[in-house]
Amino acid sequence: MSKYVFVVGGNGYIGSHTNLELLEEGFQTVVLDKVFPKHLQNLPGWIWEKCDLLDPDSLQKVFEKYPAQGIVHFAANIEVGESQENPEKYYFNNVVGTLNLLQKVREFGVNNFVFSSTAAVYGLPKKVPISEDDPKNPINTYGLTKWMMEQILQDYYRSYNLKNIRLRYFNACGADLKGRTGELHEPESHLIPIILEVASGKREKLMIFGDDYNTQDGTCIRDYIHVKDLAKAHVLALKALLEGKIQQESINLGTKNGVSVREILETTEQIVGHTIKHQIAPRRAGDPDILIAENTKAERLLSWKPEFSDLQTIISSAWEFMQKN
Ligand code: UFG
Repeated sequence: MSKYVFVVGGNGYIGSHTNLELLEEGFQTVVLDKVFPKHLQNLPGWIWEKCDLLDPDSLQKVFEKYPAQGIVHFAANIEVGESQENPEKYYFNNVVGTLNLLQKVREFGVNNFVFSSTAAVYGLPKKVPISEDDPKNPINTYGLTKWMMEQILQDYYRSYNLKNIRLRYFNACGADLKGRTGELHEPESHLIPIILEVASGKREKLMIFGDDYNTQDGTCIRDYIHVKDLAKAHVLALKALLEGKIQQESINLGTKNGVSVREILETTEQIVGHTIKHQIAPRRAGDPDILIAENTKAERLLSWKPEFSDLQTIISSAWEFMQKN
């Protein structure tokens, strides 16, 4: 019987892109999600199972129905601000939800687990680029829950031999190059979709959160990584586990290249062909000046290199997707 890859949270932004990439690589996937994955509608042979990580019975049914060879786990709440206002939601959905999933993973002997982590585990870094071994000091509950789950996975490897890779994303952005799926958060808080909402007239103006940072143009610098590059890294990570090349690791996914808020704005203006209304606003709490990934570990262990993360590809794919939706 063919063995399936479970894409948990496969209706979300990064999960839906990874699901498409897995299908293109010949894997048979099952999307486990609370929400129907619209991006699958036009594809042949897709499978969706309605699942809630806080409802172990819904998980049990899927694990019984499909023999799994690996799990790629995205499902989580991801809003930093909300995590500070309502930490309980994050502890339940992210930590308890993952523990419920891991219980089934162990019960059904699925020994390959790829986990969605984040640069938020590092908090305010003392140096850039940030290496995987640098101190983990999350400054919000969102980052803390991801760091807790990373530690839980290390324990599960040590005690239960559960092979796993934790992928720490820097700033995920862009959209599927065929326009099948893209970034649609509700509410939206991320820079590129917000700028594009202003460009398309859906939002009045961009608020630039601070222009007095210790950077060349005063605005924050981030490491923007195209979601297709992230998706490809998940496929490589899963294969490395399946082939027994990696037992357990944490790996950064970024470009090792920093871009400022102003540079994003200017490139977007060039791509959409007109100026975009903006205003300097006070700093947002918890924003570090600069976040850039050291990415040599991903290259060394996964033979992964960003291919689609130039600003032109990132912004034009996101712009095309936004215009279609
Ligand atoms: N920004 C603005 N105006 C906005 C939105 C964002 O100026 O309206 C700025 C932010 O201050 C920041 C940069 O644009 O300097 C990028 O902000 P995003 O909100 O797009 O992304 P973050 O860097 O805050 O967060 C991202 C992920 C988080 C993850 C974090 C890890 O969205 O989930 O990276 O570093 F935790």
